Amino acid sequence: MATSEVQLEVVRTRGELRRALAAAPRPIGLVPTMGWLHEGHRSLIQRARSENATTVVTIFVNPRQFNSPEDLARYPRSEGRDLAICAEEAVDLVFAPPVDEVYPPGFDTTVSIGAVGQPLEGAARPGHFEGVATVVAILFALVGADRAYFGQKDAQQVMVVRRMAIDLALPTDVIACPTVREADGLALSSRNVHLSAAEREAAPILHRALLAARSRWAAGERSAKTLRQVMSDELALEPLAKVEYTSVADGQTLRELARVDGAALLSLAVRFGSTRLIDNEPLP
Ligand code: PAJ
Repeated sequence: MATSEVQLEVVRTRGELRRALAAAPRPIGLVPTMGWLHEGHRSLIQRARSENATTVVTIFVNPRQFNSPEDLARYPRSEGRDLAICAEEAVDLVFAPPVDEVYPPGFDTTVSIGAVGQPLEGAARPGHFEGVATVVAILFALVGADRAYFGQKDAQQVMVVRRMAIDLALPTDVIACPTVREADGLALSSRNVHLSAAEREAAPILHRALLAARSRWAAGERSAKTLRQVMSDELALEPLAKVEYTSVADGQTLRELARVDGAALLSLAVRFGSTRLIDNEPLP
């Protein structure tokens, strides 16, 4: 088989990135990642490729968005494999910087998050979205992309980033892409690698719980309390699953609902041993 003729360029510094982008044809599509790329990332890259003249992928495990040094230390990394995937997907440019290229010495400015970042993941992981928003603002500024692609898998992250881009007048459109799942319904995630065989087998319960609530909603149930209970009951069938939250929230504000009358987000966070998984399903 012929090898790809497209050259994948990898840059590490702000200066190299600026030079590489100076002559890049527009529009530019950006896919921010923390590496350990999987089919979910691949779908974002393919969408970016299909809509832009230049596709930039960033690979940066952002220390500021982790809640504990242990979680950061065990985050999976494999740059060689990630670059091979980027080459396969004909990505034009990869920015894979060391920490001090993103956060220069003396770094002292962060993005503060409003209401949409407070509940759910914001409450469970203090400081997480500040870390996400800060790194995304820096990446948006460095790349100057026309569009940036994010996964609906992290629904609240998309909402936080979109709000930030609008509020801070960043010239990058935030585009949400559907969640990619394994055949058994488990949403792809870099964290799935930490699941034991038994946990991996149990993990599709997240999606089943969401689907159970969705079908009750489709059958006419509008009580958010009942829909939360449907998810909890389903999750309770799996002894390895330790539920952190089940939520039925307003689709715009993410405030918990009493009744589902318009757009809503079903979401949940569940621990399997030391691995924390999240998933969601938008309504309608
Ligand atoms: P990471 O977890 O590497 O995810 C990068 C992007 O891939 C995110 O937009 C995420 O929502 C998306 N993604 C992950 N799993 C997916 C799936 N199963 N289907 C579709 N998309 C999926 O999210 C981050 O990194 C970081 O917070 C980042 C935005 C890069 C900032 O550091």
